[in-house]
Amino acid sequence: EIMNTDEFYNAVLQLIKICGQLIKERTSSRNKKVETKSGAIDFVTETDQEVEKLLIEGLSMAFPDHKFIGEESVAGGLQCNLTDAPTWIIDPVDGTMNFVHSFPHSCISIALFINKLPEIGIVYNPMLEQLFSARKGKGAYLNGKKINVSDANTLADSLIMMEFGTTREEERRRVILENQQKLMPQVHGLRALGSAALNMAMVACGAADAYFEFGIHIWDIAAGELLITEAGGVVIDPAGGDVDRLSRRVLGASSKKLADELAKQLVQIYPERD
Ligand code: IPD
Repeated sequence: EIMNTDEFYNAVLQLIKICGQLIKERTSSRNKKVETKSGAIDFVTETDQEVEKLLIEGLSMAFPDHKFIGEESVAGGLQCNLTDAPTWIIDPVDGTMNFVHSFPHSCISIALFINKLPEIGIVYNPMLEQLFSARKGKGAYLNGKKINVSDANTLADSLIMMEFGTTREEERRRVILENQQKLMPQVHGLRALGSAALNMAMVACGAADAYFEFGIHIWDIAAGELLITEAGGVVIDPAGGDVDRLSRRVLGASSKKLADELAKQLVQIYPERD
């Protein structure tokens, strides 16, 4: 059943354009106010906080009964609680490390979930003017043009997105390196854009073939999931089986076959749930 989400979609697009302008203006600044969160290489800036506030204020004014899960609100102590109510899941700046370094790959990632399922997903990189958008049952788009996943369906033909992580913790670094070592001789190449949402957008538009990560949160992947599935791909748990959005684990790919092949190769980690 296709829900009419036009009103929600139009409202969030307007807000995103305003917030994107703010991120774009500030990304080249050499004196951003940066603080650490969970550890030495996990950052938050005043822009992350400001953008999240603008989005939540704007959307709750328009839709007073909607709920929110925002990266910086959760960092500030709010619960990460996904119910059946319409819930906006927000990462105000995904790729904060990139933003801090003026590396032009960060984005706003925002999704609307209703009955715990994605209805709208938007990933916007204002530096490169890339607006990825998807609505349930209506396909995925880049700047208004329909996008599709690639037709790669074996690891041997694939370009895989993975990340180096945002922790220096020994065990986590070891598993990341083990997965790189295992995959490197089997695939065309490995890439890391520094933003989970943009990695997923690359899979959605066929520029990459798969992406996986351990330790992400629901706000990193909520919009990207709908981009990939609406573009014809799949999003599953990295050990195979259904994705569990609060498990901090994700694997997205252009096909089920490729997803399963990759899942079988991965050294697994099971971080503490959100
Ligand atoms: C991070 C980025 C990064 C990923 C981390 C995320 P943030 O999000 O998406 O690529 O490796 O797991 O936490 O902190 O920049 O919003």
